[in-house]
Amino acid sequence: MKKINLGICGAGSILDAYSPALKKNSDRCCVKAVSVDSVKTYKDRIYEKLGRDVEIYEGWEKMMARTDIDAVIINLPHDLHMPATVAAANAGKHVLCEKVMARNIQECSSMIEACKKNKVSLIIGHDRRYFPEWKELKKIIDSGKLGRILFYKLEHNQNVIFPKDSWVYKSERLGGGAIMSCLTHQIDALRWFEGEMDSLACMSVTEPERMEGECIGAIIAKMKSGALATLSINWYTTSNRTRNGLWYELIHVCGTDGEAYFMSDKGTYYKIHDESDKALFEYALPETKTEFIKIEPKLNAASHTVLITEWLKYLNGEESDICTPGTDCIHTVEAAQAAYISRDTCKFVKLPLDIGRLQ
Ligand SMILES: NC(=O)c1ccc[n+]([C@@H]2O[C@H](COP(=O)([O-])OP(=O)(O)OC[C@H]3O[C@@H](n4cnc5c(N)ncnc54)[C@H](O)[C@@H]3O)[C@@H](O)[C@H]2O)c1
Repeated sequence: MKKINLGICGAGSILDAYSPALKKNSDRCCVKAVSVDSVKTYKDRIYEKLGRDVEIYEGWEKMMARTDIDAVIINLPHDLHMPATVAAANAGKHVLCEKVMARNIQECSSMIEACKKNKVSLIIGHDRRYFPEWKELKKIIDSGKLGRILFYKLEHNQNVIFPKDSWVYKSERLGGGAIMSCLTHQIDALRWFEGEMDSLACMSVTEPERMEGECIGAIIAKMKSGALATLSINWYTTSNRTRNGLWYELIHVCGTDGEAYFMSDKGTYYKIHDESDKALFEYALPETKTEFIKIEPKLNAASHTVLITEWLKYLNGEESDICTPGTDCIHTVEAAQAAYISRDTCKFVKLPLDIGRLQ
C-alpha cells in the first residue's frame, strides 16, 4: 500500500472534521502542506490539528507546485472551489473538494474539464453519503421494503449568523444563500436516494442583518420516479446542537408499504405497514400494531472519516465506496441553481437546465 501525500487548501472550521479523519488514516496518508490566506492567523491551529511537520503556505500556488504531493483537499470558500481545483488539476494532483462543488454548473463544468484534461480524479466531499446512518436509510429504500416511494421530507435547521465581512455573509462568494450552501446536503441525498428531479418550485426568505442571500428556503420537487419531495432549510432556528433546540437534520421517507426516517442524534428507524396500519388509512382509527424499529449501523464512524478512508482506497486503486464524483455532484448544484431560477421567476423549473441558455 502506497502512502498518499496530501496538501490541504484552507484550515477553517471544516478542518475539525478532517483532522480526526486524517489521523485515523495515518497509515494510508501523510499531510505534507496546508495553504491559507494568513499564516499568522492559522499557524497554531494547523500545528494543533495536524502536527508540526506540516509546511504552511500563504496562497496555494507554491503548495500546488510541489512534486511530492499526490492529491489536494479543497476546504475553501465556495468562490475559490473552481480556481483551486483547476490549479490542482493543472499541477497533476487528484482533488477532493468540499461541498458544495461550486457556485453554479458553469464552474462545475470547468472543474470537470480541467480534471479530465489532466487525467486526475475529482471527488466532492458530500459527506452525508458516507454517514453510516444515512447509508442505512438508503439500504432500506433500495431494498424495496417500503414499497413504491410516494414522499420525502428533508429538513436542515441551524442558527447561522456571520459578520458582514465573512465570505458566508456575501451572496457572491457563497453562491447564493442557505439553499446553495447547505440545503445542497439534502438535495444531494434526495438524488442519491431517488434519482433525478423532474421539476421544482422554490421560495425563500432573506433577512439582511444575517446574510445577503436567503436564510430560509423551501423547495417542492417532483422526482422523475413520480415521488414528491419537500426540502427546507431554516437558518433562523436552533437545532439540537443547541441545548433545548429541535432537530438539526430530518429525513422522512414514505412508501406504499412502510416508512422510514432519520433524525439527528436519534438515529435511523423504519416500519413496515400491516393490516392495522391499513385500517388507519380508512379512518377507522384503531391502534396501529406496528412500531418503528431502530437500525444500528455496523460502523460507528463520522461521515468525514468514512469519506477519507474510502477516498484513499480509491486513490490507491483498491475497491472503495466512493460515490460522489464531480460528474454526479454537478447535478446537485444544478438543482439548487434551478431553485433560484424558480424563485426569481415565480415559475416551476424543469430539469435538466438548458446550459446553453444560461450562458
Ligand atoms: N460538510 C459539512 O458539513 C461542512 C461544514 C462546514 C463547512 N463545510 C465546507 O467547507 C468549506 C470551507 O468552509 P469553512 O467553514 O472551513 O470556511 P472558513 O471560513 O472557516 O475557512 C476558510 C479557509 O480558507 C482559507 N482561504 C481563504 N481564501 C484563501 C486563499 N485565497 N488562498 C488560500 N486559502 C484561503 C482561509 O485561510 C481559511 O483557512 C466550504 O466549502 C464549506 O461549505 C462543510
